Amino acid sequence: MSPFALAHVSDFHVSTFGDTYHDRARIVKRSARQADTDRSRFDVAWEEAGWLVLRSKEPRRPKVSLIDPEGYAHDVPSARASGGVLDPVERAAAKACRLEARRAATLAETLPSDGALWTLQASTPKNSNLRLLRGARAVEEAGVDAVLVTGDLTDDGDGYELVEAAFASYKRRGRLLAIPGNHDLYLFPLAGSGRPRATSEGKRAAWRAFAARLGLDLHPCGAWSKAIPEADAIVVGLDSCARPQRRFFRQNGAIGPAQLGWLRELAASPAWSGARHRLVALHHHVVPLPHGVGKSAPSEIGMRLDDAKTVAEVLNEVGATLVMHGHRHVSEERQPAGCNFRLLASPSLTLGCRSGDAPSFWRVELADYVHSSRVRVAMDAVEQENDPGTEEVEEA
Ligand SMILES: [Fe+2]
Ligand SMILES: [Fe+2]
Repeated sequence: MSPFALAHVSDFHVSTFGDTYHDRARIVKRSARQADTDRSRFDVAWEEAGWLVLRSKEPRRPKVSLIDPEGYAHDVPSARASGGVLDPVERAAAKACRLEARRAATLAETLPSDGALWTLQASTPKNSNLRLLRGARAVEEAGVDAVLVTGDLTDDGDGYELVEAAFASYKRRGRLLAIPGNHDLYLFPLAGSGRPRATSEGKRAAWRAFAARLGLDLHPCGAWSKAIPEADAIVVGLDSCARPQRRFFRQNGAIGPAQLGWLRELAASPAWSGARHRLVALHHHVVPLPHGVGKSAPSEIGMRLDDAKTVAEVLNEVGATLVMHGHRHVSEERQPAGCNFRLLASPSLTLGCRSGDAPSFWRVELADYVHSSRVRVAMDAVEQENDPGTEEVEEA
């Protein structure tokens, strides 16, 4: 019998249209407020899948606007940026089609075939929604029994439905496990006034609803535990963003006394002490990790786990065997000095590893011993040939 295998994946950064704060040149801008679509002032020039191209009724220079299915306005690309297309309605409709095909909700509703996915990736190779689908197919091919996501599933709290669709076969069996990251729960100052703003309450509600759909029973402190009897394992998920964000530009995390107390209590139960493998997942780094050989660990200002020392002490005390995290997009395996647990850091499955390495995930076999191997995901063949480089932002 082959051993139980778990995919440790992380940091998908999926979003409404697949653009991410990690690639600001391609951020899809739209109005911060819902647009005026009053039909007494506008004619509908084109309409499809909830998108509208409106033409104002001013007789002299009618203005053309593009409205997405959520009611937000997008800029209409210039004729120059659209390869000389003179008709603004045609330019707006073409942009709507590009964005719609990459929308998380649209992709989740009907997953593209392999061929269709390559075609979409060929023109927008950095798109994180498409990259997630490519990554999820690689996870499936690796023949794993469960998938554990260590946070930053979304770039700004939107797109969970795509994660569920991409890993549907695991979700159905209660074998899709996840914890939130700072991008899922905290706010970012970068959006400016050029996009609708997420709220802390909205992001937390979206995370909780997603966790419920996975069948994860969140304790009020934010933690959950799940036994995997066939692997002789128990998995604990901790929320390193459980405390309110200190300031909107700080992304520091903490586990906090409530979750550590909960973990200590769990550790006293046979469910924990009787399991051979005692896995703990959290988003932030327990120790700062360098981005490759010959590089020193970054300072982590505004990014670190504030109570890392206490957390490591408790993990040692309760006898955690494997600690898994994401956050800084570094792929590394180690046993930290002074600790009894092994540490697995997963890079971004969509954006890759800060060392410059390709996107990858950990395939972790839980048998008498733990065996982990790094599985790289091929996305770059397309990227190198077709990366549009400085293409307009709406291409994301
Ligand atoms: Fe991330
Ligand atoms: Fe993060």
